[in-house]
Amino acid sequence: NEIKIFSPATVANVSCGFDVMGFCLDTVGDEMVIRKVDKKGIVITKVEGFDLPLETELNVAGVSAIAMYNAIEVDFGFEIEIYKNIKPGSGIGSSAASAVGSVFGMNELLGRPFNKTQLTEFAIKGEALASKCEHADNLAPALFGGFTLVKSVSPLQVLEIPTPEDLYATIIHPQIEIKTSESRAVLPKEVKLSNAIEQWANLGSLVHALHTSDYDLIKSALKDVIIEPHRSKLIPLFNEAKSSAIDAGALGCGISGSGPSIFSLSKGLDVANNVKANFENVYADLVIDYDIHI
Ligand code: HSE
Repeated sequence: NEIKIFSPATVANVSCGFDVMGFCLDTVGDEMVIRKVDKKGIVITKVEGFDLPLETELNVAGVSAIAMYNAIEVDFGFEIEIYKNIKPGSGIGSSAASAVGSVFGMNELLGRPFNKTQLTEFAIKGEALASKCEHADNLAPALFGGFTLVKSVSPLQVLEIPTPEDLYATIIHPQIEIKTSESRAVLPKEVKLSNAIEQWANLGSLVHALHTSDYDLIKSALKDVIIEPHRSKLIPLFNEAKSSAIDAGALGCGISGSGPSIFSLSKGLDVANNVKANFENVYADLVIDYDIHI
C-alpha cells in the first residue's frame, strides 16, 4: 500500500534537439513515497529539501496526480511525500521529476493500468504548472529512461533511443536560478533557414549516432546554432566551461534544458572525470558554488 520511488533528473534539448530530445541521469534525482489511504483525493503530506507548496493544486506532483486520479474511479485516495534533491530552476528537470514521480508511484500501486505514454500525458499537466507550457522533453526520459525523442506532444508520441554503453554525462550547476519562462523569453521567434538546416542535420545525425554507438558522429552532431547563442549569455562562464570540457576530451558540451546547468557527454568515465575537474577549475577561480554529478 506504499511505494518509495527514485525520480531521476534529466537533461533536455541535448544541444541540437530543442524541446524534443532528452536523457535521464541515473545518479541524481528526488525520492518520493506514495501511499494508498482510505480518504479519497490526493494529499501532499511532506515536502523536504526545498521550499515548495504543500497545496495539491499548487504543487507540480499534486497536479499530475490529480490528472491521473480524475481518470480512474476508486474509493480510496493517495498521500504523497516528496524528498527533493533536484533544486528547482537548476535546469535538470526538477519539476519533471516531481510530475513524473507521483503518477509513476500511483500507477504501480494500482497494478499498472496505464502505459508510460499515458503517464507522461498526466505528468505534462504538472509540468505545465511550473514552466507555463506543455512540453515533455524532461518528462519522457524521466519515465522511459535513457534517451528519448518527443515526436509530438499532441497526440503524444515518444521514441526511445538507445544509449551507447560507454557514454557518460557530467553536469555542473552554477548556483544561480534561471526560470524556464525567462530563458524562453530571450529566444527569437524566427530562425534562419541555414541555421535550421544545420540543426536538423545534427539532430538526425545524433539520433543515428546513438543507435550505432558512433562516438565521432555524436561529437560532430552535438552543436546548437539556434538556442545556445542566446541563452549562453545568461550563464556566467558558459564559454569557458564549454572550452574546458572540450579540452578535457568531451564529445560535446551545452546548456542543460533552459539552464543554468551545463552538461557534457564523454566517451568513458575517465574523460567524464577530467571534464569534472576542468569544470571545477573554471568555477573555482571565481568562487561560484557548484554541484557536479556524473
Ligand atoms: N526544452 C525546454 C527549454 C526545457 O529548453 O525551454 C526546459 O524545461
